[in-house]
Amino acid sequence: MANPCLSKSPTKMALKSKPLHLLLAQKLLLLFVTTNIYAENDPLLIYCPHVTNYTNTSPFKANLDLLLSDLVSSVPKSPSLFSNSSFGTAYGLAQCHPDNSPSACANCLNHSATAFSILCPFARSAALRFDLCLLRYSDTSFFSSLDVTSFKVLSSASHLTVSNAELQDLIYETRSKTSTTESKFGATIKNLSHSRVASATADCTRDLSDDDCMICLNQAVGILLSDGDSNPLACQVVGLSCALAYVVRSSTVATGVSDPTGNKGNK
Ligand SMILES: *[C@@H]1O[C@H](CO)[C@@H](O)[C@H](O)[C@H]1NC(C)=O
Ligand SMILES: *[C@@H]1O[C@H](CO)[C@@H](O)[C@H](O)[C@H]1NC(C)=O
Ligand SMILES: *[C@@H]1O[C@H](CO)[C@@H](O)[C@H](O)[C@H]1NC(C)=O
Ligand SMILES: *[C@@H]1O[C@H](CO)[C@@H](O)[C@H](O)[C@H]1NC(C)=O
Repeated sequence: MANPCLSKSPTKMALKSKPLHLLLAQKLLLLFVTTNIYAENDPLLIYCPHVTNYTNTSPFKANLDLLLSDLVSSVPKSPSLFSNSSFGTAYGLAQCHPDNSPSACANCLNHSATAFSILCPFARSAALRFDLCLLRYSDTSFFSSLDVTSFKVLSSASHLTVSNAELQDLIYETRSKTSTTESKFGATIKNLSHSRVASATADCTRDLSDDDCMICLNQAVGILLSDGDSNPLACQVVGLSCALAYVVRSSTVATGVSDPTGNKGNK
């Protein structure tokens, strides 16, 4: 059976997001040329529904600016690298992977905040997820509420025959670990058969309950896991409330060398 990571419902998403990718590539190229900050830091998820827009002279825009600069400065100082905040009707949340330095976190959030005006101009509700950080805002409060509407699948083109059961074990273990830790971040490395080593990482936004985190990751697992015996070397499912990823490598390749999967999203 085909791998859901590449087919089934995610295919629809992948196909749909293609024009966006092209558009994004152009925008990023422009951004790269102008500011030189996105060279190796493409967003994994761009969420800008554009249902309603703000204008530059609106109170919302003023509050949004205050909100973004508050989050960019407060999150790196917080021990958990997470914060939620609100100004007027601008609500926002930001977090970095807990194993990051405050300065890496600050850089990632600053890039995100800057990128909103280019990738999601005038959007009253938007989110950007990078490898290291997530920044989300809206004109209505979304704190502590689960959102499983906007998953995106990123997978490597190369496939590999690995035991699905082994990969599942790894992913289930990571899911359970993540939903029950306070950081809502989990990582697992496992040796597989056929001289393979696999790592998985997962995260939920830190405002979610253990149960909601589990519900979100279950949805991501459903998208990620295959019924077949051929899986992408690397695959990740990223959403607004959670994300889940795995990478399989040959265990004869020393760690630290360049990623053989060619998947930029996984480091
Ligand atoms: C909001 O602005 C974006 C970017 O300029 C535009 O593409 C979109 O059509 C606008 N949406 C509405 C509802 O006006
Ligand atoms: C991002 O960093 C630049 C340069 O340090 C700063 O001018 C800008 O205000 C920062 N943006 C936000 C949203 O904090
Ligand atoms: C952060 O979110 C919690 C709910 O998760 C809410 O009670 C609190 O008021 C929010 N904080 C700010 C500053 O908006
Ligand atoms: C994987 O196997 C290698 C030896 O082949 C061992 O050194 C390493 O600790 C194992 N890793 C895990 C996570 O079990």
